Amino acid sequence: MLISGRGSNLQSIIDAIAAARLDATLAVVISNRGDVPGLQRARDAGIDTRLLRTRELPDRDAYDAALAGLLRDARVDLVCLAGFMRLVGAPMLAAFPNRILNIHPSLLPAFPGLEAQRQALEHGVGVSGATVHLVTAELDGGPIVSQSAVPVLEDDTVDTLSARILIEEHRIYPEAIQLVLDGGWSIEGRRFVRRARS
Ligand code: GRF
Repeated sequence: MLISGRGSNLQSIIDAIAAARLDATLAVVISNRGDVPGLQRARDAGIDTRLLRTRELPDRDAYDAALAGLLRDARVDLVCLAGFMRLVGAPMLAAFPNRILNIHPSLLPAFPGLEAQRQALEHGVGVSGATVHLVTAELDGGPIVSQSAVPVLEDDTVDTLSARILIEEHRIYPEAIQLVLDGGWSIEGRRFVRRARS
């Protein structure tokens, strides 16, 4: 799992595994920033942590190659981003094709990029939400695995809307991870398609 900060989605995944709602093992938590609450959450749960700072590597490709190396060493078969404030580049995409998930606080393809909740408020939409998607070279543009909508209220602030969306993030991310780990899906065009089970 890759994080940069608070780690509340990481916590929801730790909790889902502990409650046997998610059948998975968190092999390693990697952050590009030191001293963030997410790293402490991982340590508290007894999960291996690594800090890989941008300044330790000469450029983006070198950073991504080092990241892929750490993840391979940990034998992960699915990489989950949660608040990881870096674009994932070619070396990572090549190392984990269709094996990288991200969670984004809007109903994609609306409001990709930074400050999605502020974008939603400024646009005056009546509905926003959370999206779990596979990561591709297109920013927040990969196949959608799961979404959940929430209302945007007249008197919402960035904080109140973010809090409402975060509840949905914590619910759908563990579910989406299970779905992807279970297999029985394929990518058709830009769609994530589940095969009907007989
Ligand atoms: C979440 O809102 C997530 O959707 C976005 O960054 C935030 C991370 O929060 N990509 P946390 O670190 O999981 O608490």
